[in-house]
Parts: sequence; structure tokens; C-alpha cells
Amino acid sequence: MKRFLKISLVSVLCIAALLAVGITLTIGWRPILGPRSRPLTNRVFERTPERWARGKYIVENEAACADCHSPHEWTKHDAPIPLGMEGAGQDFASLKGLPGTVVAPNLTPDPETGTGTWSDDALARAIREGIGHDGRALFPMMPYEGYRHLPDEDLASIIVFLRSLPPVRNPLPKTAIIFPLKYLMRSTPEPITDPVPPPDISDPVKRGVFLVTISGCRDCHTPVDHGNPIPNMDMSGGQIFEGPWGRVVSANLTPDPSGIPYYNEILFLQAIRTGYVGQRPLNQIMPWRHYGGMTDEDLKAIFAYLKTLKPVHNLAG
Ligand code: HEC
Ligand code: HEC
Repeated sequence: MKRFLKISLVSVLCIAALLAVGITLTIGWRPILGPRSRPLTNRVFERTPERWARGKYIVENEAACADCHSPHEWTKHDAPIPLGMEGAGQDFASLKGLPGTVVAPNLTPDPETGTGTWSDDALARAIREGIGHDGRALFPMMPYEGYRHLPDEDLASIIVFLRSLPPVRNPLPKTAIIFPLKYLMRSTPEPITDPVPPPDISDPVKRGVFLVTISGCRDCHTPVDHGNPIPNMDMSGGQIFEGPWGRVVSANLTPDPSGIPYYNEILFLQAIRTGYVGQRPLNQIMPWRHYGGMTDEDLKAIFAYLKTLKPVHNLAG
């Protein structure tokens, strides 16, 4: 009897150990333990006119937060945001292929349906570290993995600008991601505990690397398999976007013949500023109207970086 007990105890321990190794090697522990996160602080970002202006530029142009976080008239070529609704949130119900209900929340300071009661640090942690004000892991369509690289001063600027938006009462459903993704995505958030210094933007290509990271070009222009970027296909297009704007495929932005080898700086700036490549209209799901408000220096830097991309053959579109 004693011996039997000993054997079963050993087997249970062996199974537990195997299971532990299995979990460690496959999905990791986060889906079970919950996301990595840090406690909130009571820091408050000082409201200055410089920060407000920089924040507006990031939210409306460089990072185009306003594209996802506002409703749009999606059937029009410039997909305008209805008057007074900037930052009031958007339900992605009409974008096909999402794993559940996905809602970019109302970022205006409305106390009931917006961010009025959230602290500055709750916003900061959500934006760069992927933890919502309520402590849950955010669905990484919110590009917090790229925003990790936002320097501290840019983060402060974004929050100062968001706080200045007129509060809009706009009740929306809550994001509800399907099983098992809602557990798996808990592995994505990563706390930031050290200062994030300004990026190296000493030449146009380096500046372009930073801008492309925070403007999320890659999120739409790199083909994905179950939401993960396909290796060696960086920026070669092929993602499908279907909704009220029609059915479009993102373009190959590499200098390969199947990409945009024929682009020059003038054509690129024109396309992003006007939403037309020569006579051909660019679909409104491509956020050109937001990026179009970027400075010449920023747009030229993005183009300089695109020219350095490895050519990838991919007949997208
Ligand atoms: C590609 C679309 C997209 C872009 C661009 C985007 N967001 Fe989001 N954001 C989302 C979605 C979707 C969610 C909801 C995720 C969830 O509920 O799991 C979200 C969530 C958030 C939250 C979390 C709210 C909470 O519950 O605590 C904040 C804050 C936020 N975004 C701010 C920003 C800011 C600031 C920017 C620009 C720097 C930005 N977002 C850009 C889609 C986007
Ligand atoms: C929300 C997804 C999305 C994001 C973000 C996005 N794009 Fe696009 N982009 C598209 C789609 C879809 C098309 C194809 C549009 C069409 O066929 O009309 C496109 C087309 C383009 C084109 C036109 C190529 C051609 O066929 O001539 C250029 C240039 C471009 N994008 C550059 C960028 C850059 C640079 C960024 C980042 C600053 C970016 N895009 C971010 C979805 C996106």
C-alpha cells in the first residue's frame, strides 16, 4: 500500500512537471497567471502648450490614434469624422474577420463613457504597455507593441492633448475577444519601468524607422497568418480589409517590381497628401488623410526608409 502510494505520488509529480515544462515551452504562463503589469502611480503630466501641440500632431497625424478611436463616414473617399466626434471611439463591427467584438474606446474625458475618471498613468500604461484602465490585457490591434518606443515626452504630450478634447457622451459596447485568443493575448503586454529616451532621428532613414514604428504602417502592410506577421515578408502587403469602404488589399511597399519601385518622393508625398496616386484613388481604409497632415520632413523620412526595405516579391492587390 505504502509502495503504491509512493508510485502514484511520483507519477503525479512527473505529470505535473511535464505539464509545467509543456506550458513553459508552448503558450507560457501568462494566459493562466494574467498579463505582466506594473502598479499605477499618481503622476500627472503637466499641461503645457508645447505638449498640447505635439500631442495633437501625434494623435491626428503621426500615429493616427484618431483614425481608430473615432467614428467615420466610411463610404466617402476621405472617410470624414462626424463633427465633434474626434476621439469619441469606434466600434469595428463592420470590419470583417475580427476575432470577436472589437471596440476602440472613447478617449474623450466624458466621465461615464470616456476617460474622465481614469488617471494620467492609467492612460500612459494602456498606450505603451497594453494594460487597460481596468487591468486587463488589451487586444493588440491597439498598437501598444509599437508605442513602447514612444519617448516619455511624446507620451506626456499625447495625454495632455487627449485631456483637452471636448467630452463626448458616446456609449459603446466593450471589446470581447473569443476563446482561446482572449487568454493567449495576455502574453503580449510588457511593463515599462525605465525612462524611454528620445529616439535617434539624426538622419532621414533613422527618423523614418521611428515614424513607421509609431504610425503602424507595418500592422497593415505586412501579411499575417492568424494575426502574426509572416517572416521575411516585411511590408510586402496582402492583408485584406473588407467593410463599408469596399474590399481592398494592402499594397506591397517594398522596392520589388511587385511593390512600388516606381515611386519617387514627389509621388509619395502627393499620394499621402491627396489620396490619389496619379489618377487612381487610394481607398479610405488607408489612413492617408491623417498621415497627409505630417510635415514634409516627416513624410520624406518615411519615404527614405521605405526605399531601404528589402525587396520582397508579393503580388498583392
Ligand atoms: C489600429 C487601431 C488603433 C490605433 C491606431 C490606436 N488604437 Fe487605441 N485602441 C484600439 C482598440 C481596438 C482598443 C481596445 C482594445 C481592447 O479593448 O482590448 C484600444 C484601446 C486603447 C486604450 C485603452 C483604454 C482602456 O480600456 O484603458 C487607450 C488609452 C488607447 N487605445 C489610446 C490610443 C492612443 C493614444 C493611440 C495613438 C497613440 C491609439 N490608441 C491608437 C485601437 C487603436
Ligand atoms: C489601416 C491599414 C493601413 C495602414 C495603417 C497603412 N496603410 Fe497604406 N494602404 C493600406 C491599404 C488597404 C492600401 C491599398 C489601398 C488601395 O488599394 O486603394 C494601402 C496603400 C498604400 C499606398 C499606395 C500604394 C500604391 O498602390 O500605389 C502607400 C504608398 C501606402 N499605403 C503607404 C503607407 C504608409 C507609409 C503607412 C504608414 C505611415 C501606411 N500605408 C499605413 C492600408 C494601410
